[in-house]
Amino acid sequence: MIKVLAALCIVVVVAGCNANNVVPQDEVSTSSHMPPMPVPADNPMNPAKVALGHRLFYEGRLSSNGVISCAACHRPEASFTDAPKQVSEGVRQQQGQRNTPTIINAGYRKHLFWDGRAPSLEDQAMTAFMHPEEMDADTHAVGALMRSPAYAQAWREAFGDTLVTMKRVMQAIAAWERTVIASNSRYDRFVRGEFAALTAQEREGMRLFFSDRTSCSSCHGGPDFTTDEFKNTGLFTHYFDRGLYEITYNPFDEGLFKIPTLRNVALTPPYMVGGDSDSGNLTTLLQVVRHYNGGGKAFFSRDKRVRPLGLSDSEQFALVAFLKALTDSSVMTDPRFTRPR
Ligand code: HEC
Ligand code: HEC
Repeated sequence: MIKVLAALCIVVVVAGCNANNVVPQDEVSTSSHMPPMPVPADNPMNPAKVALGHRLFYEGRLSSNGVISCAACHRPEASFTDAPKQVSEGVRQQQGQRNTPTIINAGYRKHLFWDGRAPSLEDQAMTAFMHPEEMDADTHAVGALMRSPAYAQAWREAFGDTLVTMKRVMQAIAAWERTVIASNSRYDRFVRGEFAALTAQEREGMRLFFSDRTSCSSCHGGPDFTTDEFKNTGLFTHYFDRGLYEITYNPFDEGLFKIPTLRNVALTPPYMVGGDSDSGNLTTLLQVVRHYNGGGKAFFSRDKRVRPLGLSDSEQFALVAFLKALTDSSVMTDPRFTRPR
């Protein structure tokens, strides 16, 4: 895949797009066991674009009230979520409907949002930007800001010219997001051969997590602990937020939500898509594990693997301990990712 993309980029460069001296950088550095970050052929990486995207992610003036940046809801100090808030507030104090997911490793996701309605980070950013309850962007004002002297130079370095389009704003943000990678938790160090990085209890939790007894890893599988599928986990008997159904209108998709990454999950309570006023809101990892151990509520689309597990208390504590070992808090303090100065 990457090879194909790289080949495409070379073709584009040869065809003359090189005129503006933008050097494509097709691979973002990741630790050895993370796959290379996929980069779309029409939005090649370059350091200036990443730097511009970093600035734009924190730019409150992208919103109609001048203060709601992407980072207002995806706060670095909460691993780019709005923890511990159940839902975030956009412009005009409007409450969102769903819990704010993290953006770490989001470049690896096959589709974005809890219902997967955005196919790429570029599309996703545009949705947040235009959403009347999130940033409610005034594109004329944003265009003027981007053409102002404060931004013109960054713009030229990133794209080779000063042509301002909202698409490019989103491309820069997406390019930066592709660099926000967490892959150095104690679990990762264990995988890389540092046996002592995990305690005995965490290793027991790991065994359970990857076992047929719990089936956790059959949904939360792969380097980011998600297969990017949509599933129902039996949280409710009635879904006000109907999940994937809201996109497909397929009755079988009711109550299905994207399996979230579990990286940095200890830092991002409360859990699940949330927003429903039902009593299903889970605020601690132990509550989540207890939910799975109980098998969930009866709902027609509940996945068969969500069933009573019969785990003892100490096994449940071990699972929680393992989930906590997936934390890489360096993304919250790394100057490449925190508020630019
Ligand atoms: C008002 C709060 C708010 C603002 C501002 C906001 N977001 Fe979000 N973001 C959310 C919520 C809530 C969701 C989940 C919505 C859903 O699934 O329907 C989300 C989802 C996402 C996702 C998808 C993650 C995944 O795994 O599916 C990404 C990426 C993201 N936002 C990036 C951005 C960017 C970039 C901006 C700025 C252009 C931004 N957000 C602005 C609240 C916000
Ligand atoms: C059938 C697939 C499936 C299985 C099996 C499964 N999960 Fe999940 N998990 C999901 C989905 C889907 C969500 C989001 C559900 C929602 O919000 O309605 C989720 C959410 C979570 C969350 C909350 C993450 C967040 O950021 O909100 C945690 C923690 C979690 N699962 C841990 C586990 C553990 C531990 C196991 C094994 C005991 C497990 N899961 C088994 C699909 C699954």
